[in-house]
Amino acid sequence: MEKLTVALLGGGVVGAEVTRTLLARSDALAARVGARLELIGVLVRDASKERDGIPRELLTTDAEAVVAGADIVVELMGGIEPARTHILDALAAGASVVTANKALLAQHFPELITAADDAGVRIEYEAAVAGAIPIVRPLSVSLAGDRIERVMGIVNGTTNYILDQMSREGWDFDAALTTAQELGYAEADPTADVEGLDAAAKAAIIASLAFQVPVAMDDVHVEGISSVSADMIETAAAQGFTIKLLAICERIDNPDGTESVSARVYPALIRDDHPLASVSGAFNAVFVEAENAGSLMFYGQGAGGAPTSSAVMGDLVSVARRRVLGGRGQVAQQVRESGDILPISR
Ligand code: NAP
Ligand code: HSE
Repeated sequence: MEKLTVALLGGGVVGAEVTRTLLARSDALAARVGARLELIGVLVRDASKERDGIPRELLTTDAEAVVAGADIVVELMGGIEPARTHILDALAAGASVVTANKALLAQHFPELITAADDAGVRIEYEAAVAGAIPIVRPLSVSLAGDRIERVMGIVNGTTNYILDQMSREGWDFDAALTTAQELGYAEADPTADVEGLDAAAKAAIIASLAFQVPVAMDDVHVEGISSVSADMIETAAAQGFTIKLLAICERIDNPDGTESVSARVYPALIRDDHPLASVSGAFNAVFVEAENAGSLMFYGQGAGGAPTSSAVMGDLVSVARRRVLGGRGQVAQQVRESGDILPISR
């Protein structure tokens, strides 16, 4: 069977889960892809640190070597540099790329997509928006022939967890943030979560995909939750409202006949009987309104190692399958004439 080499850049919360999955499900993945996925290295800053689920011999600090040897590079290190350079190097060398890095995408989306197109390879990033929830593909593929009017939702698990713990359990802000960090929901610098920057990066990606215009972080109006106090949450609750950090991206019809795109992130009062009010913990929910499809709702775990690894693995299978097929054929085609699991005959 053919073999594809995979380099993982980052062995933290998400990288460790992806490593575990790659090693534990290697036979099933090979059957699905039509090639063995061989993990050749996991890039970290400190290779001497013990990491649950990552064999020590896979850890490396040699970025150039691990990128150069890979057919597929999975970037899970976060931040802008050196992640951007490693991805561009990988694409230029003809490797396919999977990334969960919304901060990078929100700043360098056109550059990365162009680099992938120029090299004739794929870059996939389903995990960059709303963790396990499939939303990138619906916006960019499934709804590509429709006209999306508005996308609205809770897209940051950390802040939703904090607000939820403060309102339901009476926790204070710092205790809730510390637990969110321990559970692997928060960014390396949790200011990005608390101040709404992570949600704004996701809003920029959502708006770019939904409206097919480059929307960058700087185009998004951002307010975080650091000014939301326990008193505000209590007052809102007494009046039948819940405070949630919302991201809203919409198409605006201007009086002169032109169109604009508005993207904003801010803590909003939601009526308790609205579906968004009941989105608890680190869950996310995204509502899409499109001309023909009408209203669609996507809901699921928006943060954490395992949920995020699900989206990363989906992208990994997709780019690997495409390589096996040489860019032809149906990437998602998996209905075989026979398999290990058979339907029960009536
Ligand atoms: P993390 O736990 O902080 O892990 C980052 C990993 O990257 C660590 O292993 C770190 O090495 C390595 N790393 C960082 N900078 C490096 C450098 N300059 N050179 C070599 N290695 C470097 O982060 P994470 O939570 O797994 O998140 C990874 C990415 O996924 C980020 O882009 C994040 O935004 C995104 N994401 C995270 C979640 C989530 O729920 N956590 C969900 C969706 C998307 P050391 O361990 O040696 O420091
Ligand atoms: N820090 C992010 C969040 C991770 O809390 O939603 C998922 O993108």
